[in-house]
Amino acid sequence: MNTVQRIALGAVVLGCSHAALPVAAGEAAPEWVDRARSSAGTLASRLQQELQAAIAEGGPVQGIETCRIRAPEIAEETSSERARVGRTALRVRNPDNAPDAWEAGVLQDFEQRIAAGASPAELETWIETDLDGRATGRWMKAIPTQPLCVTCHGETLAPELAEAIEAAYPADAATGFAPGDLRGAFTVEVVLDAGD
Ligand code: HEC
Repeated sequence: MNTVQRIALGAVVLGCSHAALPVAAGEAAPEWVDRARSSAGTLASRLQQELQAAIAEGGPVQGIETCRIRAPEIAEETSSERARVGRTALRVRNPDNAPDAWEAGVLQDFEQRIAAGASPAELETWIETDLDGRATGRWMKAIPTQPLCVTCHGETLAPELAEAIEAAYPADAATGFAPGDLRGAFTVEVVLDAGD
């Protein structure tokens, strides 16, 4: 694919016109978007499984340890040479998950849509763009805060949890969330130009 298009398709389009040109709603998603969705789905279910198992076994403090070690590993395992999968947010626990400019813009757009009444579970966007000189598909899907999440991302944390988080993430900014809030997003980059 040689022509680099900057587009955002589908029912959910970016509101900021400088970031993407909205295309007619309802247009079918390109094939790579399905790959992005399924990679993020795999990451989500594996993370959730391991997190729940760790909490069942050793409580939320054990969950912190699992998230710290396993979340980046599972993201790496789920990624392939052509599709990179991760999580990001406007307020991050791990600075490695901080958004780039496009991701931050999408997250702000998601926040605005939620404020205007959209359900965070339905927010998704994608764009075909040039990233580091390569035609790349970028896809993001909102991650809503669920009741389980506030144990570690909520307004008030159990003292031993707060301590464990402070020790592992001195710059933690990922607290203060309530169920229904936008916690962050899955973010996937798919290489579109096969010629390398
Ligand atoms: C047991 C504690 C714990 C629970 C419960 C938990 N998280 Fe986290 N979360 C963490 C830790 C620790 C990290 C940092 C992981 C890393 O180092 O990549 C994290 C990171 C994240 C990130 C990546 C962005 C960032 O802040 O670094 C997202 C998104 C996220 N969590 C969403 C959720 C959601 C949604 C839920 C509920 C379904 C949830 N978390 C439940 C501990 C938890």
